[in-house]
Amino acid sequence: MTIDRRAFTLAAAAALAGCARKSEEQGSIKMNRQSFGKTNDGESIDLHTLKNSNGMEAAIMNYGGVVQALRLPDKGGATVDVVLGCDDLAGYLKEASYFGALVGRYGNRIGNAAFKLDGVEYKLPVNDGKNTLHGGKKGFDKRAWSAKDVSGADGPALQLTYVSKDGEEGFPGNLTSIVTYTLNDKNELRIEYHATTDKATVLNLTNHSYFNLAGQGEGDILGHEVTIEADRFTPVDGTLIPSGELRKVEGTPLDFRQAHAIGERIDANDEQIKFGKGYDHNWVLNHPAGALSLAARVREPKSGRVMEVLTDQPGLQFYTGNFLDGTIHGKGGMVYPHRSALCMETQHFPDSPNKPEFPSTVLCPGQEYKTTTVYRFSA
Ligand code: BGC
Repeated sequence: MTIDRRAFTLAAAAALAGCARKSEEQGSIKMNRQSFGKTNDGESIDLHTLKNSNGMEAAIMNYGGVVQALRLPDKGGATVDVVLGCDDLAGYLKEASYFGALVGRYGNRIGNAAFKLDGVEYKLPVNDGKNTLHGGKKGFDKRAWSAKDVSGADGPALQLTYVSKDGEEGFPGNLTSIVTYTLNDKNELRIEYHATTDKATVLNLTNHSYFNLAGQGEGDILGHEVTIEADRFTPVDGTLIPSGELRKVEGTPLDFRQAHAIGERIDANDEQIKFGKGYDHNWVLNHPAGALSLAARVREPKSGRVMEVLTDQPGLQFYTGNFLDGTIHGKGGMVYPHRSALCMETQHFPDSPNKPEFPSTVLCPGQEYKTTTVYRFSA
């Protein structure tokens, strides 16, 4: 049996109530808070920087729960920021790409901007062709969340809470969402989602970080090699709404059961690729429902940096930044060209509220929505 000495020491330190802050491990837990400006409604926004003992840092805002920066230590002691974003709040207030944000109440698309629940039809804002994307016009990514430092034995941790009112963006029920980001010493950014409602509703929370493992602004991600633990995907129509079919990836450019460079087949003569303008699809993960398991692996060959994505969710939206077009100037004035980042959005399948054959996204009063996603980094 292998004993994780460090975990044991941390647990023991945590048990010593009152002495914990003096222990070496607890002393290494770091979270800094700095003011990051005000929204147009006057809400104060802070940037919380979580730092682990390897020098990895995650800077997270309470506006949209945005991961504003994710800095990985490099061999030479320098750090590289592997997520796209903006330098200041003003950038995020006008940005429409969901950089780093928590997406809700329903991440991804709901077809024809409507769904029925218990015989009642709910109409949603139309913001993507004739569909609703990422929770509507003012989704969770554009809301000020309340923030609490919940750092503990696992590392620095930030808990964000947002109460979405009954009827907000057309969805039923007062929904309380609590999302906790923890950065541990295994270089894992762990995201735990929790929600409850007072009326039946639908929800699908995810994080929309745009990763470039060569560093944000360092060209395109076509050389990144990707593996996805999925035998099937949900084919879509031209508006990216699934048909309901679960189709085998075998023999298609969406087969990532073995590692492939993203650029290898991204412009293949394939209907699904054309509809997505590249990769913008939901994969049906192989793992048993509810089990936190490896969903995807991404490797940047020049630096050797690797990101592994673990989730207990049934699906993974793999999006290759096909709508980035070089017009956005991001952090440090970096230009973000076409396909200069990738998103690995762990989630339920798109349009599930209108697809009874898909796993349900309904949350009822008295139930708890609980899911976990981990982004793990190594070099
Ligand atoms: C969607 C894309 C969309 C992007 C940014 C992704 O989750 O699948 O189609 O363009 O988010 O909004």
